[in-house]
Amino acid sequence: MSTTTGAFIAGGIAACGAVTVTHSFETVKIRLQLQGELQAKDAAVKKYKGVFHAVKVILKNEGPRGLFQGIGSAYVYQVLMNGCRLGFYEPIRGGLASTIYKDAHVQSLGVNVFSGAVSGMLGAALGSPFFLVKTRLQSHSPFLPVGTQHNYKNAVDGLRKIHNTEGIKGLYRGVGAAMVRTGFGSSVQLPTYFLAKRRLMRHLGMEDGPALHFASSTASGFAVCCVMHPPDTIMSRLYNQTGNLYTGVFDCLYKTVKTEGIFAIYKGFFAHLARILPHTILTLSLAEQTNKLMRRFEDRWLPDSIRAKI
Ligand SMILES: *[C@@H]1O[C@H](CO)[C@@H](O)[C@H](O)[C@H]1NC(C)=O
Repeated sequence: MSTTTGAFIAGGIAACGAVTVTHSFETVKIRLQLQGELQAKDAAVKKYKGVFHAVKVILKNEGPRGLFQGIGSAYVYQVLMNGCRLGFYEPIRGGLASTIYKDAHVQSLGVNVFSGAVSGMLGAALGSPFFLVKTRLQSHSPFLPVGTQHNYKNAVDGLRKIHNTEGIKGLYRGVGAAMVRTGFGSSVQLPTYFLAKRRLMRHLGMEDGPALHFASSTASGFAVCCVMHPPDTIMSRLYNQTGNLYTGVFDCLYKTVKTEGIFAIYKGFFAHLARILPHTILTLSLAEQTNKLMRRFEDRWLPDSIRAKI
């Protein structure tokens, strides 16, 4: 088994594990983002009053099934995303490094961040139909519905129905917002992680280890959530509509802020945080461990002449 295949499988399993743990908050987030859409603040009925209230009423009315709607498409999306990050990152990074520095082995923060963002955006574009159908499954509720209620039996049924009624264009509804969202998130994640790590070591005297990884990934997850949440809200709303409400990302942003106020783009923020923090902590801490294993392996098995080039 090649290392890439190994990394793909390990990454996919880790991502799906993280999704399983946090999917309930994703469902809550979507319902909070859609609630009161394009209604003035005081006129909007609040069916879901906050993260914990939402979890409680969904569990009471719909049972665990309600919270876990759309988890199949969430897995497919994660695996696609993980695959795109692994598959596109290195070629893009190497290509850029050799164009700019005339050497593919040069590591530069700017180039790495850019390549991470672009491979994330490609993943988001590829996975968008699954995210779309997931959003619609998650907002469906026979008890406290928010958003258009599509009666999809499951993800496959949903994809088929969207394709039959709205065509390819329907499947790719909201893809622009999805790419912006993931591009924002991917470009912030690693730089803030390394920044937090350096600061914590320098100012609080923390040492490299699990506690430092935990603290830095928490800081990174928070930063990611702050920049990613507004485009995420726009994306949920573009996914909900069937084409009659907004013409695109900017139109949706404009109308949302105009009718509901500027904080509307942060609706569902705490639910998003509850989803992103465990996800980031898990993935980044895990990456530290795998990198350590990798380095130990290289130190032990690779001759100095090769190692110097890596
Ligand atoms: C969802 O989309 C439908 C159809 O495009 C629209 O009528 C509705 O206002 C949107 N939002 C909510 C919360 O239902």
